Amino acid sequence: MTGTKGSLNPRILIVSYSYSGNTHQIAKGIQEATGGDRCEIYPRQPYPMAFSELLKQVKKEVEHGYHSLLLPGVSSSASYRVVFVGSPNWCGNIAPPLASWLYKNDFSGKILLPFYSHCGGVAADFRKDIAKLCPKADVREPLQVIGDG
Ligand SMILES: Cc1cc2nc3c(=O)[nH]c(=O)nc-3n(C[C@H](O)[C@H](O)[C@H](O)COP(=O)(O)O)c2cc1C
Repeated sequence: MTGTKGSLNPRILIVSYSYSGNTHQIAKGIQEATGGDRCEIYPRQPYPMAFSELLKQVKKEVEHGYHSLLLPGVSSSASYRVVFVGSPNWCGNIAPPLASWLYKNDFSGKILLPFYSHCGGVAADFRKDIAKLCPKADVREPLQVIGDG
């Protein structure tokens, strides 16, 4: 986890999954703007490098609502009131590693601020998808960024 020296607002957490780096770049920008703490999510099993294989796996995981196993080291959201959560738009959905982290944490009484990177292709509804995964959270409208913005 990376924190800002003399954190401006320690109650803000920024969590992101990124396959090719764009979403982490956006997360860094949010950290600079808010002074929050930041964590990156990594699936235990890395995704394939070849696009056709990646797409095939992502489609299958999204279709089955798969929750990836994650590497340890991501903060619990317990001590934060506001959590920014980001991933790429994959086939109109949240990437499974982020969906998995969201599903496993309790966001009662917390504000979730989604953000995602996309390429202007199939649209996503991160607010709706995250509200389904985290029914007790106050989920706000997402920030959508093309590439790394
Ligand atoms: C498997 C896969 C599926 C994707 N599906 C979409 C999509 O449905 N809509 C879209 O606008 N972009 C889509 N993209 C593009 C990514 O969202 C975009 O390249 C994003 O900037 C990648 O972010 P990252 O660098 O954090 O992984 C897809 C990319 C991949 C690899």
